[in-house]
Amino acid sequence: KVKDDAGDSLTVLDVGGKVYYPTFPIPDHENEVKSIPDWHARDDDILICAYPKSGTHWIWEIVLMLLRGKAERIQEIKEVAMLEGVTQAHYNNLPSPRVLNSHIYFSNLPQNFRDRKCKIIYILRNPKDVSVSYYNHHTKLRDYEYEGEWKNYLPRFIQGKVDYGSWFDYVREWHKVIEEGHPSIHVLTYEDVKKDGVNEIKRLAKFLEIKDDMDLFEGISAECDFKKMKTDKDPLEIKEEWRDGLPGMYRKGEVGDWKNWFTVAQNEMFDAVYAEKMKNCNVKIQFSK
Ligand code: A3P
Repeated sequence: KVKDDAGDSLTVLDVGGKVYYPTFPIPDHENEVKSIPDWHARDDDILICAYPKSGTHWIWEIVLMLLRGKAERIQEIKEVAMLEGVTQAHYNNLPSPRVLNSHIYFSNLPQNFRDRKCKIIYILRNPKDVSVSYYNHHTKLRDYEYEGEWKNYLPRFIQGKVDYGSWFDYVREWHKVIEEGHPSIHVLTYEDVKKDGVNEIKRLAKFLEIKDDMDLFEGISAECDFKKMKTDKDPLEIKEEWRDGLPGMYRKGEVGDWKNWFTVAQNEMFDAVYAEKMKNCNVKIQFSK
């Protein structure tokens, strides 16, 4: 448990200075997480990476449908293929092609992934919406035992005192890797997928070397409409893990919801922090529709 300046505590897992939250209660999870950099990749692995609450479930679903060539939902949740949420044995047994996902830093991914030049999809979402989404995640998931108020949570988020640490550090590290010309990273933003889903699915298909099929892309986009995904997927969550037994992985699914949460003062403070922390990083972020 870590405490913030307001005295609110939150349960996280700190492994060698990097902070994780174990999704599943796996025995000896700490050692499993530590060993991830040594895990073996396969040439046809696809890995989706994002800071938490950036749309990982959404993109995972899209990629699975693209690979299967069918705009049809599968009855699993992305945690079955989450690097830091599964054991190494489970990882080794997943059938190919694996669509893996993770929130860990680039530098903590399996080295073998880089050596084999496996395809990596990186999702970026504006940090104001991420902070609101993460607040709801932390207050709704029982295991965090977190009951802090939003006004106290925002400073905690900015300081990176949450699982997976600082959004700013995470995005700066990824952006550096991308700018250095990594050969196989495809960047998607939550805001673009929301604005023009079909086109973003088409771009993604090109990256994955899947043939152009507008009917398929439109079908997948319709299947991944927020309300439809919520109706289909929330019931697959383990009810007991959520407060009041109400799964809330699919909460609002909007760009700019932060405007309903941030006060003017919080927004000014955030902008100042953002300008300072991201001054040497020219990543483009869309804060509004
Ligand atoms: P909100 O809390 O703002 O609604 P992740 O999958 O990385 O945990 O991200 C979760 C966020 O993505 C949540 O944001 C969730 O509602 C949103 N999301 C999930 N599926 C979506 C979809 N099909 N369309 C839009 N947003 C989606």
